[in-house]
Amino acid sequence: MTTTSNVLELLERTQNGFVSGEQMSHELGMSRPAIWKHIQKLKTQGYVIESSKRRGYRLLAKPEQIDVQAIVARLMEQQSSLVSGIKYFESVESTQNIAHNYAREGAPSGTLVIANEQTTGRGRLGRGWLSPIGKGIYMSMVLRPQIPLQFAPQLTLLTAVSLCIALREVTHLPIGIKWPNDLLIHGRKISGILLESASDEDQIGHVIMGVGISVNLTQEDFSEALQPIATSLRIENKDEPVSRIEVIVTFITVFERYYELYKREGFAPIRALWESLSVTLFKEGSFASMAADRVQGTPIALLDSGALVVRQADGTELQIYSASAILE
Ligand code: BTN
Repeated sequence: MTTTSNVLELLERTQNGFVSGEQMSHELGMSRPAIWKHIQKLKTQGYVIESSKRRGYRLLAKPEQIDVQAIVARLMEQQSSLVSGIKYFESVESTQNIAHNYAREGAPSGTLVIANEQTTGRGRLGRGWLSPIGKGIYMSMVLRPQIPLQFAPQLTLLTAVSLCIALREVTHLPIGIKWPNDLLIHGRKISGILLESASDEDQIGHVIMGVGISVNLTQEDFSEALQPIATSLRIENKDEPVSRIEVIVTFITVFERYYELYKREGFAPIRALWESLSVTLFKEGSFASMAADRVQGTPIALLDSGALVVRQADGTELQIYSASAILE
């Protein structure tokens, strides 16, 4: 057992009551400054611990654990059949890598990899994804859609639509989609989607749908550079924690609904939903494209290819594509 777990164990034994620094130091054979350090570490992991100079420390709340049994039970209640199996890890480099490995070994569509922490979470365009322990949702699902490769961007937009609807349902917060697939609350990013396709000739072999959601991160979890552009559900929810299990189950059931709709009716209904949830359409801005460096103008439409049509000041229209990773 690590010393932080020893400190936690002692706090749990005396839950609802205080345990003095002196008693802890005596029982655990540690100096009081060392105990203070472990308490700070537990706080960064989401434990709520009251400290009083006179009385010591008291454990008030524990972070919600990702309980796989509870997720499976809730999905069954919702008569959901999308998820074929859940692989849960306490800590991984990136759930994307693990899901790719499962897919290459033949894992069925619907295999879902969830982690409590990522040490090198990956974002789009070679960026990282902040993934502190116990605070966010880091998950990647294996999908095996029967669609040509050029339609892969539609799946990204479908994921963004589903995530936006699910997060609105759970939190009632004003969440919108910024093209292509960022979700924003009051202009700050709340989640990220990373769709990676492995191609098999011109058909998609498998897709890994990676979703990262900043659920219970606090202001201190974000670096100074990230604070103006990123936020969490908890910060936007008046500092009230949000259940990760609730968010995972709601996202999966909403995604399943729209994935079925997409398979039945194609992209048109998804595009209509994307347009209604978009905070990008008809708003002038500057857009990063794969072909040109940046395009300045007003987005006027979303095409079946997933491209955004941007009208420039001189009236010319440009189609811009987001960079999506094609592996293998
Ligand atoms: C983005 O840049 O907006 C996309 C971020 C995607 C992050 C998620 S977290 C789960 C999965 N594992 C990763 O390493 N990345 C994705």
